[in-house]
Amino acid sequence: MSKVLSSVAWPYANGPRHIGHVAGFGVPSDVFSRYMRMAGHDVLMVSGTDEHGTPILIAADEAGLSPQELADKNHRLIAEDLVALGISYDLYTRTTTRNHHQVVQEMFLGVYENGYFVEQTTYGAISPSTGRTLPDRYIEGTCPICGADGARGDQCDNCGNQLDPHDLVNPRSKINGETPEFIETQHFFLDLPALAEALTAWLDEREASGTWRPNVIRFSQNILKEIRPRAMTRDIDWGIAVPLEGWVDNPSKKLYVWFDAVIGYLSASIEWARRSGDPEAWRAWWNDPEALSYYFMGKDNITFHSQIWPAELLAYSGKGDKGGSPREYGVLNLPTEVVSSEFLTMEGKKFSSSKRVVIYVRDLLSRYQPDAFRYFVAAAGPENQDADFTWSEFVRRTNDELVAGWGNLVSRTATLVAKNFGEIPPAGELTEADATILARVEDAFTTVGDLIGSHRQKAAIGEAMKVVADVNKYVTDAEPWKLKGDEVRDPLATVLHVMTQCVADLNVMLSPFLPFSANAVDAALGGAGDVQPMPALEEATDLDDPTRAYPIITGDYTGARAWGRTPIVVGTPVSKPAPVFTKLDTAVVDEELDRLGD
Ligand code: MF3
Ligand code: ZN
Repeated sequence: MSKVLSSVAWPYANGPRHIGHVAGFGVPSDVFSRYMRMAGHDVLMVSGTDEHGTPILIAADEAGLSPQELADKNHRLIAEDLVALGISYDLYTRTTTRNHHQVVQEMFLGVYENGYFVEQTTYGAISPSTGRTLPDRYIEGTCPICGADGARGDQCDNCGNQLDPHDLVNPRSKINGETPEFIETQHFFLDLPALAEALTAWLDEREASGTWRPNVIRFSQNILKEIRPRAMTRDIDWGIAVPLEGWVDNPSKKLYVWFDAVIGYLSASIEWARRSGDPEAWRAWWNDPEALSYYFMGKDNITFHSQIWPAELLAYSGKGDKGGSPREYGVLNLPTEVVSSEFLTMEGKKFSSSKRVVIYVRDLLSRYQPDAFRYFVAAAGPENQDADFTWSEFVRRTNDELVAGWGNLVSRTATLVAKNFGEIPPAGELTEADATILARVEDAFTTVGDLIGSHRQKAAIGEAMKVVADVNKYVTDAEPWKLKGDEVRDPLATVLHVMTQCVADLNVMLSPFLPFSANAVDAALGGAGDVQPMPALEEATDLDDPTRAYPIITGDYTGARAWGRTPIVVGTPVSKPAPVFTKLDTAVVDEELDRLGD
């Protein structure tokens, strides 16, 4: 049994999330965490809403709200969507809590005292018309390196180089086209070169473990080659104050949103511990070198999780070239694995809210079952390469695989048991076919479990569905509907018993992917419908500010069914089942395509 930290990327509060977002971080992290709990590990799954940074300011301006009002509104929406998807967070919180601010400032001070911040004067852009600072990525111009037009102030997408907006040729504001003015400004830079050796050693060791996805480890090692100091403060009035004299009261200098957001994994663990009544409980996941930690995200987040966050942890712990020692949090664990997905596209195009190439989580869940979506992501999502969501494929996978494959097996099993016995019948002597299928299903727990544990969810669900097909074939061959009459009462009981055991096993095996239907299937077989505990939204009071309340997601997942076969109980009443999965009308495809922009 290990301590396992499941760290899930924090969605931005600038708007509701679409299915591309949750396909990257949400479903994979939940499948993994549910499985690890079932396998007996002590999982702490944390995340929250990422509420600082320029995108939130811009969205707030557009909506005519203050940044906090906009963040409040979207935090609630996003949290509701994540609950509706069944993502089993131990704590889903937000970055505007007092606790998060304190933890971020403590991390800043630790890094600072150990000497890993260097103060530098740079050029900052401001908008001449508003007097406001213009963040790097809202400036575009010609790339000074490759000459491509449309390079952003922070990066050129054509040649991939990181840029400084001051170096752009012909810079202009993406917001209103005006030419920015550059003024001198002071910032704290994280001394990444002083941490490069420690980062390299960590990545080498992680590569040797052989468990990271090849794209992710390669990308992470590549960006180490061009490592340079990066600014961790910004000229902005929305964010966490820099906890130093001369800075802390400056209303227009704040910590960079990415500096604070990644610390969310630690601050949420601490908030969880404080809420649990044992404020030190988080240490078992962060200070014990035996504890494991997995970080789930889309690929645009890799740099921040395989370079910036480990650098912050190393610097705080005093483990770079400049040495040092940790403050109250002690030596903090580096990520065991950065588990990144690739991108999901929609009908062959990039998701775009403005072009209406999008489906929001909320809209999808208002019309379809969460497990149909979770199934699609697991079976056809962007695990190792970019993947496309199309409505026709969504309908096909739902109807042909979920409904006709798994749903049909569940329904014929429960129907036959209900009709012939009204309860789970005992097995007589097993035929070879009975014994073979029972062994096939039981063995799959090992195969499927190992695949989920090593982040190959596509292969895992593929294998489980192959076993579903094998059990369907067993039923077709055994023809239990032909076993009529007293002389075949025992053989009929045996086949139905074997079928029921196989369905119960497969239900447990599929439950990390399909938690809602797992509970429904369990109930259809006469169980309590409690294979997978579900998360819930709770209104919580800020731990350090009794005047403030906000919704959190939490849950008690200790009752999750154990991974492996649980023998079914003879005599359990079974009645005629209602369908677990909804078959989709193929007209859905055109209806949904009509909703998209063109
Ligand atoms: N808000 C970022 C995004 O949506 C992800 C932040 S992950 C965190 O891309 F760890 F930094 F919080
Ligand atoms: Zn370029």
